Amino acid sequence: MSTSLPGGTWTLGDLTVTRFGYGAMQLAGPWVMGPPADREGALAVLREAADNGITHIDTSDAYGPRITNELIREALHPYPESLHLATKVGATRDEQGGWPPARRPEDLRRQVHDNLTSLGLDVLDLVNLRLGDAEGPQPGSLAEAYGTLVELQQEGLIRHLGVSNATEEQVAEAQSIAPIVCVQNLYNLAHRHDDKLIDRLAAEGIAYVPFFPLGGFTPLQSSALSAVASRLGSTPMSVALAWLLQRSPNILLIPGTSSVTHLRENITGAALSLSSEDLAELDTIAGQR
Ligand SMILES: NC(=O)c1ccc[n+]([C@@H]2O[C@H](COP(=O)([O-])OP(=O)(O)OC[C@H]3O[C@@H](n4cnc5c(N)ncnc54)[C@H](OP(=O)(O)O)[C@@H]3O)[C@@H](O)[C@H]2O)c1
Repeated sequence: MSTSLPGGTWTLGDLTVTRFGYGAMQLAGPWVMGPPADREGALAVLREAADNGITHIDTSDAYGPRITNELIREALHPYPESLHLATKVGATRDEQGGWPPARRPEDLRRQVHDNLTSLGLDVLDLVNLRLGDAEGPQPGSLAEAYGTLVELQQEGLIRHLGVSNATEEQVAEAQSIAPIVCVQNLYNLAHRHDDKLIDRLAAEGIAYVPFFPLGGFTPLQSSALSAVASRLGSTPMSVALAWLLQRSPNILLIPGTSSVTHLRENITGAALSLSSEDLAELDTIAGQR
């Protein structure tokens, strides 16, 4: 598959995806609960992503809940063969909008079936087991939960598996049970805890998919980032995305936006070429925290 999107393509197992993907979480209502204020606008963002050749969309039935998956289905079903939807299981939603873990075998089976139904699919291309909690990764064995997803994979409901919000030990434990094609953890210019893990996964041909690439609910802010952006006549968001693409070839972008204009800006901006001087200046950001 050829693409004009920045970063080219990557292969997740046997699925080729554009490294520039799209994260659909922000399409639900405030704090990822309920429907969006602008439903037509949300559908337009998804169609714009597909029209621009993006073939990797990240979602979860927990977003809304169900809302984001239903929007994806309405905007894009029947899905083009080249489009691959990645989803997550392992957390549910409570009435306050919290994300309580739900990783018992029966919870995971239900969530896989819920994702199949709301997305209108017979098989899920990629399912990430979301670990930890809202505070981040937490230690502990994933064997029972991951084993359940392996069973669902063997039953033909899942093509590929990954882990999310995981410690390095949990990534290794998953790999000792069955192959993963990606790790989806919090990582961006300011949060570089996973630097070593990214390099190890790159050597093994496994994707690393940073969530909150732009800082998530708190946009990235840093004087070094602003200085590099203004020197290049660009924006902090563009520099943050371009930096991730240049950081390692196994990094796949899933920036979120509810705006067609921002989506276009992000696609253009991620193609920015950063010099070694720019990279050195940007490297100081993580150290400032
Ligand atoms: N595995 C996990 O536990 C986990 C956790 C969180 C997220 N995720 C996944 O990661 C994806 C990305 O995370 P995210 O969307 O929360 O955070 P993000 O991509 O870091 O940032 C999204 C925020 O940036 C803003 N934004 C995007 N482009 C912009 C631009 N060009 N100019 C100004 N503002 C811009 C968006 O606002 P506008 O809507 O106004 O553009 C939105 O508020 C999610 O969609 C989700 O699929 C996974």
